[in-house]
Amino acid sequence: MRILAIETSCDETGVAIVEDGRRIRSNIVASQLVHQDTGGIVPEVAAREHLRSLDVLTEKALRDAGRQLSEIDAVAATVGPGLIGCLLVGANYARGLALAAGLPFVGVNHLEGHVYANWLYETEDIPPEPELPAIVLVVSGAHSDLVLMEAHRRFRPLGRTIDDAAGEAFDKVARLLHLGFPGGPVIERVAKEGNANAFPLPRALPADRFDFSFSGLKTAVLRLVRELEKKGDVPVADVAASFQKAITEMLAEKTARAAAEHAVETVLLGGGVAANLVLREAIARRIGHPLRVPRPGLCTDNGAMIGAAAFFALRHRGTEIPVAARSDLKLA
Ligand code: KG4
Ligand code: ZN
Repeated sequence: MRILAIETSCDETGVAIVEDGRRIRSNIVASQLVHQDTGGIVPEVAAREHLRSLDVLTEKALRDAGRQLSEIDAVAATVGPGLIGCLLVGANYARGLALAAGLPFVGVNHLEGHVYANWLYETEDIPPEPELPAIVLVVSGAHSDLVLMEAHRRFRPLGRTIDDAAGEAFDKVARLLHLGFPGGPVIERVAKEGNANAFPLPRALPADRFDFSFSGLKTAVLRLVRELEKKGDVPVADVAASFQKAITEMLAEKTARAAAEHAVETVLLGGGVAANLVLREAIARRIGHPLRVPRPGLCTDNGAMIGAAAFFALRHRGTEIPVAARSDLKLA
């Protein structure tokens, strides 16, 4: 089954062609650069940018895959969670395309997409599927969720952030250090030159055992930077490395604890922050399970992950497939 999939929940316009939920035939991601000037995403601007690029990207995705619309079996799009204006642009475009071509439309939960990125490959020889049940850590610019995936499309939430998302914390600390946006990749790069033990930073312990909290850490970094500024030069690499160590250890410890306390086969990561190598290593060190992480380009938002999730949604219909766009859609 060949699915054309569209992702527009935030500031990335993604269009992809995916076969049988596992093989990527094309995957085009256009990052909206306009937001770099504002240092954050302006929702209306993002929605307009999606609208402007969808036609061109869809044609290119079909061309790259060497296919025509008549060779597609279904059209999928993210229907939530995300910025509502952005979701509406992508979902309505996909629904129109499906209607015109006489194809089924599949609405996809963005978080399910991040999970199913672990099923995707570009190569001809595709490794076996990740074994379930699994503990999944979805960490992005808007979410930090620890989930028990009992079976295909059966998710039981274990914990989540009670304040900032992990990616949001990376972005805010990067802004504080004048490193630009998005913050995650640049903090990871700069931290390589720094000493992660230079500054001890607090690790929050929310009452709920699997919940996260990152706002205390963020405030501690803010206070540290202000103090260092008063003294003179801020050792940016050392601050970035110390922050990265603290946040990845918090994520890794709870993920490992969840894996130890539930009878699972695998640990899966997803979302933009999963691209972080220090996080991967911190988790791998603490678990006895196989760890699966999508390659970095598939951790951040893309259309292919929506195509994978759409395929498994059609194959395992058990849970209802969402249709209407909703900014606060949850993993079910
Ligand atoms: O999944 P994603 O592309 O979009 C959302 O659904 O939010 O995640 C984007 C987030 C941003 O906050 C970005 O700073 C973070 O993922 N990110 C990283 C890395 N690459 C992206 N955080 C840490 N290390 C990275 N290498
Ligand atoms: Zn995302």
